[in-house]
Amino acid sequence: MERIAIGADHAGRALKEEILVFLRDAGYSVEDMGTYGDESVDYPDYALKVARAVATGAADLGILICGTGIGMSIAANKVRGVRAAVATDCYMARMAREHNDANILCLGGRVVGAGLALDIVQTFLQSRFAGGRHVRRIGKIRAAEESSSPPLSPEIAEDP
Ligand code: RB5
Repeated sequence: MERIAIGADHAGRALKEEILVFLRDAGYSVEDMGTYGDESVDYPDYALKVARAVATGAADLGILICGTGIGMSIAANKVRGVRAAVATDCYMARMAREHNDANILCLGGRVVGAGLALDIVQTFLQSRFAGGRHVRRIGKIRAAEESSSPPLSPEIAEDP
C-alpha cells in the first residue's frame, strides 16, 4: 500500500482531518505535514513540504488541500518530479493517474464537500498509470523539467 503525505492550509484543514481518518481507517500509512491549527497560513509552505516528500521518495503519493486546490497545485508543480493535479470529480482523479501519472492530488476544501472528496481520494488511489502513449507524453514533460531546473539537492529536500 502506498505511503501518503498530506498537507493543507487553513482553508483545507477541516477536509484534511476527514481524509486522514478515511485513509488511516483504510490502512494507509499517512504522514500529516500540517497545518494543524485554524490560523491563516501560506499554502506554498505546505505544498512544498508534501511535494519534496514525494520527489525524494519519502512518500509515494501526496494529497494537498487549500481553498480551491489551485494554489497548492501551482506550488507543488515547481518541484522537479512532481505532477500535481486538481480534481473536482472522480473522472478527473482517474484520468490524472491513468493519463498524467499524477503523484499528488490537489483538492479544494471550499469547492468539494467531504463525501465527494473522499470518493475522489479513493478513485485517485485505486487508479493506475495506463502507460502506452502516455509514457511518451510524460517523457516530454520530464525532458522540459530537466532542461529548466536542477535536481532537488538533499539540503533543499530537508528544508521545512
Ligand atoms: C486562502 O484564502 C486561499 O487563497 C487558498 O486556500 C487557496 O485557495 C489558494 O489557491
